[in-house]
Amino acid sequence: MNQKLLYILVFILFLTAFPLTAQEDLIINTHNRDHISLNGDWHYIIDPYENGFYNYRYKERNEADPEAYWNRPVIKEPSDRIEHAYSDNYSLKVPGDWNSQDPVFKYYEGSVWYQREFDLTEAQTSGTAYMYFGAANYEAHVYLNGKKLGMHKGGFTPFNFKIPPGLLKAKGNFLVVKVDNKRSPEEIPTVNTDWWNFGGITRDVKLLLLPDNFIQQYSLQLDPENFSADRKNQILKGHFKLNKPAENSEITIFIPELKLKEKLSINGQHLEYKLPFKKPELWSPENPKLYEVEFIYGKDTLRDKIGFRDIRVAGKDVILNGKKIFLRGISIHEEIPQEVRRARNKKDAQQLLDWAKELNANMVRLAHYPHNEYMTHTADSLGMLVWSEIPVYWTINFRSEEVLEKAKKQLGEMIIRDRNKASVIIWSVGNETPVSPHRTAFMKSLVQTARAMDNSRLISAALEVHRENGRNIINDPLGESIDIVSVNEYLGWYGGLPSAKENSTWEVTYNKPLFFSETGAGAKAGYHGDRNQRWTEEFQAWYFKETIKMMKRMPENFTGMSPWILTDFRSPRRNHPRFQEGWNRKGLIDNNGNKKKAFYILQEYYKEIENRS
Ligand code: GCU
Repeated sequence: MNQKLLYILVFILFLTAFPLTAQEDLIINTHNRDHISLNGDWHYIIDPYENGFYNYRYKERNEADPEAYWNRPVIKEPSDRIEHAYSDNYSLKVPGDWNSQDPVFKYYEGSVWYQREFDLTEAQTSGTAYMYFGAANYEAHVYLNGKKLGMHKGGFTPFNFKIPPGLLKAKGNFLVVKVDNKRSPEEIPTVNTDWWNFGGITRDVKLLLLPDNFIQQYSLQLDPENFSADRKNQILKGHFKLNKPAENSEITIFIPELKLKEKLSINGQHLEYKLPFKKPELWSPENPKLYEVEFIYGKDTLRDKIGFRDIRVAGKDVILNGKKIFLRGISIHEEIPQEVRRARNKKDAQQLLDWAKELNANMVRLAHYPHNEYMTHTADSLGMLVWSEIPVYWTINFRSEEVLEKAKKQLGEMIIRDRNKASVIIWSVGNETPVSPHRTAFMKSLVQTARAMDNSRLISAALEVHRENGRNIINDPLGESIDIVSVNEYLGWYGGLPSAKENSTWEVTYNKPLFFSETGAGAKAGYHGDRNQRWTEEFQAWYFKETIKMMKRMPENFTGMSPWILTDFRSPRRNHPRFQEGWNRKGLIDNNGNKKKAFYILQEYYKEIENRS
């Protein structure tokens, strides 16, 4: 057999042994599909030495190894030796980070094995089924009834694995997931972040029960190349991706309220389409109009609620539905501070976005990673504009092709999941990455990837600022490629006092909108004193007063800001024993839900400019 043929065979073998987990297999809109929730109590085993995965010679255990933690421990004779088992005495709630569920997990970084069983009806064991995870931080290996379904890396985006026919059974399906949240210089994010490394199955788990032929992914939006606010008819643009190629099939798109019912013929696995579209009511923060949409493809009927809007930049302006807008934003981490945990459900999303609404914000920057889907769903219905970001944060290994591929994969998963959410207007490819030729090439490649996947949204990133004799110059080379030039500024917190803002000047090298993606100062809620006293609410209030004065002096391309940050959040980098204790205190709201003085200062400013465009 010649060498080349041998290589091809080996590669095919590898693929079948380790099914590739790529975002193109991602199934979207899972909440509207037939599924069984696998949320609830799961057993766990903490395994810092990976004993359930490797044998004592540190070789991956073979599939049938009775000591592998993915296999059901079986005791046949009293003398049988097994040194692990799953027990009700050791259980974790799913979804949920492990850190907040038991003190043993507070700082834990390593592997935890999750296990549960579930039963099905006979009918459910024979259809097309996928195991779906909203997210698991950071690396997840998934096994069902002793067989490996797949592996996923990335702590904040969904993934799913097709379940091989015949693997599901009616009674006692044995589901095991190994989640490893160890940080690594070769991952996205890397080892250094200013947020807590919450580990675990942090989002919903679902067994998707699907027709043999179904719509896996789709997009439906106003065609950005054919939009005009006053035109009677718009153009609807979209695509479908089926789970497998079709022959002479058709997909019906049905939007009852707009009396739109179109049958599109499809051959193969993909279809792109454009349709004339009677003028829909456009989605906006003031009028978050969502339409019931129904897709019918054979036995697959799928419903969604979709808003239609147009977002673009024109010179120095951000234009929503033909009108210039000003972004009154606030940055948010995916945390419920009162319970010291990852946010994970609709109630959590409502709490965080209601606080943003109370602030008179019309936009949220979901830092520094894609938040759970409840956030973008709730933003859609509340009319809150969204900046969504992948955790290409600080000192990523910009020289590595593999790391770039990992970033692209997370970017793709973020876009595919939320591309039909009208509230999402900005994809951000990173935050405060140090300027270098490798970094700029890496980031520009991400920008190209985002644009190729979605030309209907704006691309940004938090850039670096060049300081020279009191001048703040924004000439980061990445600014050439993005639509909104965004920077984080902390004059008066990191360096100087808030009075440093009085004479600061800002220069943007690019004829593009200027957005302050962060500005903030720390305060321990309830600690009061002179405004010069660091950590007092009065210091933070002074900072925001000076910041607002500075924003009022900004050049004309100033298009908004998303101050840092809505609430105090957990960070292992914040270790002042009196004022921080593992909390980053730049929140406008503290970890008990108390609003600080600065909350009201920003709230008043946003009220004052709520009609600013
Ligand atoms: C940086 C960074 C944030 C961090 C913040 C801070 O700009 O983007 O992630 O938390 O500053 O120092 O508090």
